[in-house]
Amino acid sequence: MILGLCAAVLAPTARVARATEAAPVGPAGPDCGRLACVALTFDDGPSEATSALLDDLADARVRATFFVVGDQARWWPTQLRREVAEGHAIGNHSLTHPYLATLTPAQVHEELLGGENAIAEITGTRPLLVRPPYGNYSAAVRSFGHPLVLWDVETLDWQHHDPAQVLARVAAQVRPGSIVLMHDTQNQLDTLAAVPRLIRNLRAAGYTLVTVPELLAPHTLVPGAVYRDRASAARPAEHPQPWDTVPPTAAEDTAAGVAGTVLWQYASGADTGPAEAETVEHGLRPGECRNLTQPPAAATDTRAFALRNLTGHTVELHDRRDCTEATAALTPGGEQYGPVRSFRVRTADGTPAAAR
Ligand code: NI
Repeated sequence: MILGLCAAVLAPTARVARATEAAPVGPAGPDCGRLACVALTFDDGPSEATSALLDDLADARVRATFFVVGDQARWWPTQLRREVAEGHAIGNHSLTHPYLATLTPAQVHEELLGGENAIAEITGTRPLLVRPPYGNYSAAVRSFGHPLVLWDVETLDWQHHDPAQVLARVAAQVRPGSIVLMHDTQNQLDTLAAVPRLIRNLRAAGYTLVTVPELLAPHTLVPGAVYRDRASAARPAEHPQPWDTVPPTAAEDTAAGVAGTVLWQYASGADTGPAEAETVEHGLRPGECRNLTQPPAAATDTRAFALRNLTGHTVELHDRRDCTEATAALTPGGEQYGPVRSFRVRTADGTPAAAR
């Protein structure tokens, strides 16, 4: 069983997993199409704290999924080997845990391949699943060619360090097919102490605890697709990201008399990457400056965190309101991650018109 499970998650070392084919998922395990399954996932390890967590999981006979940081694995290889030996699933969480969408495609490749290599050196196998740090990904991350596994239950354990909050947050968000995010770093000992109780609570509520490959089986996972729960494995094509929208051509924009569309997302917090809710702006006129305004529920900071230019024109990004301090220019289809307060679509002759 252990060998079968590892084979599901990890490809042989000899295989350089530049997968363009669909990744296989796990063997016949619990039938999560029938049972109410939940996958517990632990990021950013391994660490010294992982040992006690593995003891607790073994005592409870639960297998979890660990999204491993390559540099951490080199510090704590014994814990990583033990994760594999005890039948837990292993995924790649990059080499050094950066915001991948802020990096160039070459840097993204280096980070993800670096994490994969570190895991392969220690375990002898290459992970097929990738979880981008902070859930922060771009087209380059997706084109690395592995299924991306995010989560739908956020414990915020890294923020509050409160076992009671871990239990309460899971209870409030969990549903059949959920993927729960926690962290097995050394400064997370307090919330890891909640795990035995969490397992008891979930089982008492009727849940079966499984690894991510078991949760998503028997669906074929698609390289570059994004999975947040079991439901998204059943229909990944129905979960397009805002970035997937096809930009209109310049000719189409011209015919419509507008510059086109700029998408942006607001940060939900300094450390959590782009927010789920995105704003879509249609019909900007060339030369028009657009100051960003915050959704009503959000805080006072009026910055966007992530933008994609879906116009057929270059879009200038500015760090001050009224397009007064240009920080970057996005070519058609380009993406930018970072604080932006206003933006402007360049006119057809390539020069920005005055702010209106
Ligand atoms: Ni992380």
